[in-house]
Amino acid sequence: MAEPQVGTGTSRRAFLRSVGVTGGAGAMFATMGALGLAPTAAYAAEKEAPFRAPRHGDFTLQGRKGRPAKVVVIGGGIAGLTSAYELGKAGYDCTVLEARDRVGGRNLTVRGGDRLTDINGVSQTAGFSKGQYMNAGPARLAQWMVTLDYCRELGVPIEVFTNTNAGALIYNETTGMKAPVQYRTAKADVYGYVSELLSKATNSGALDAELTADDKERLLTFLKSYGSLGSDYTYTGTEHRGFNVDPGAAGAPGEKLGDVPSLSDVFASNVGRYFSFEFGYDQAMLMFQPVGGMDRIPMAFARAIGEEKIRTSAPVTDIKNTTDGVQITYTQNGRTRTITADYCIATLAPHILAKTSHNLGTAVQTALRAVKPSYASKIGLEYKSRWWERDFRIFGGITETDLDLDHIWYPSYGHLGERGLIIGYYNTGAHSDVYSALTPPQRLERALDQGVKIHGGKYRSELAASYSHQWKLVPYLEGAWHSMPGGPDAPAYAPLNTAQGHVYFAGDYLSYLDAWQHGAISSARKVVTELHQRVLAS
Ligand code: FAD
Ligand code: ALA
Repeated sequence: MAEPQVGTGTSRRAFLRSVGVTGGAGAMFATMGALGLAPTAAYAAEKEAPFRAPRHGDFTLQGRKGRPAKVVVIGGGIAGLTSAYELGKAGYDCTVLEARDRVGGRNLTVRGGDRLTDINGVSQTAGFSKGQYMNAGPARLAQWMVTLDYCRELGVPIEVFTNTNAGALIYNETTGMKAPVQYRTAKADVYGYVSELLSKATNSGALDAELTADDKERLLTFLKSYGSLGSDYTYTGTEHRGFNVDPGAAGAPGEKLGDVPSLSDVFASNVGRYFSFEFGYDQAMLMFQPVGGMDRIPMAFARAIGEEKIRTSAPVTDIKNTTDGVQITYTQNGRTRTITADYCIATLAPHILAKTSHNLGTAVQTALRAVKPSYASKIGLEYKSRWWERDFRIFGGITETDLDLDHIWYPSYGHLGERGLIIGYYNTGAHSDVYSALTPPQRLERALDQGVKIHGGKYRSELAASYSHQWKLVPYLEGAWHSMPGGPDAPAYAPLNTAQGHVYFAGDYLSYLDAWQHGAISSARKVVTELHQRVLAS
């Protein structure tokens, strides 16, 4: 994703948020570390105290009081499902109330025939063919994420998700680039010229105060290899840039990509702004995806919890703490219903919960209002042929642009097949808002106009079906992730990090990995642990 632009007057915290939004929370964490701000204590605590799922046996141990309680979980997203699943292991009587017609929340996979209606009443039916799908929300999982542990536990098969690809493209229209450039070429040129400059500085003695003679020698050896420099430490381009004609049999050595741009042109193109993305703790390869769509995860959770314990199309309209428990009101099939329980775990997005009637008090309401939603959108474009594989030799990965489509994603499934589905835009913030203001046909037109600049006519002519998803406009979600100045442990959010009477709060926003299922799961596990300890002690 695009590197954040830090403008004049940007606060350190705002900068971190922007890193978090563009690069993901892990990138933000890494940046915090670099600035000396890393919340190492909280992070270390999470690492040091592994989650222990509640067990039936916890209630039968000698001297233990308590019994499994009745819990209403509001929201059937990943945090809600994790809560019900983990408490269910110890025999808690959990009921999940989900407003939408399916579980998953932001974990949403769109397939052919899916009809979704936005908050303005605008409906789209995805016309994708069998086997083609679009992960409208989460799409990638880093190797270290706890989400993969649940894939293992729930039997969800995974496959590699290609997050970086040397054959994918970079296109910065505003810098005057005439054509997209391959990642490999852009990297070779940037690394080459940076290495040449640093070698010159080293050889001219400019770094003598910093480096010993041995250091200099080692640095020059590294730079020569890293930047593919000649014996005179100049960069003139090598095969790292790629080939016009690939090497073949004897007599066909191939034709190396020529026309090495000048140092000034390379820096002016600003292609280097994308390179640090793959260093992010949350975005570094290898990454994974569930086979068949990200919603295999909530589907597996729902099976494990027991479908009979989950009520969909059941929006909660009122949350009440009572003297000895909770009373939750919801509607289903046009009827208003009430359910009472010992505890409630509210996993709705904070800006949605703030709009829901409750008696949790003004401190909670103020904390909820302090969390602002951030926006993102994706469009799925199904094509009659996989022209990006045939014509461009791109098998998965992401093309980066400064166009308002931001990113183009090539599918990491179905390689060499007949058809395929590209994410034609994955944009955030103001770029996402531009598309949210359009009708679905207008969004498609705009996306195609932009994509043609990079891939030419087939981007339009080979199109078979499309579906655009604007998270700002999705009922009961109305956002992609969150802006939380100060992070989840800031005093402003303290009322949400502790039980309010019999009501607990969970969700990715109450974690150091907002915008990741890992965060939603971690938050749910924290609340499950606290609730279970309370019940055991009661
Ligand atoms: P939610 O999914 O928001 O769940 C809240 C639930 O509450 C919803 O189901 C909602 O319908 C329900 N609800 C709301 N109001 C009511 C009501 N009144 N009554 C009952 N129910 C209600 N994560 C990754 O791991 N990898 C990724 O690559 C990734 N990419 C992402 C890309 C995008 C565009 C987006 C939007 C998210 C992405 N994420 C990714 C983040 C991931 O989707 C979230 O972290 C996670 O799904 C959040 O789960 P949650 O349970 O906290 O919240
Ligand atoms: N976690 C989200 C992504 O990787 C922001 O796309």
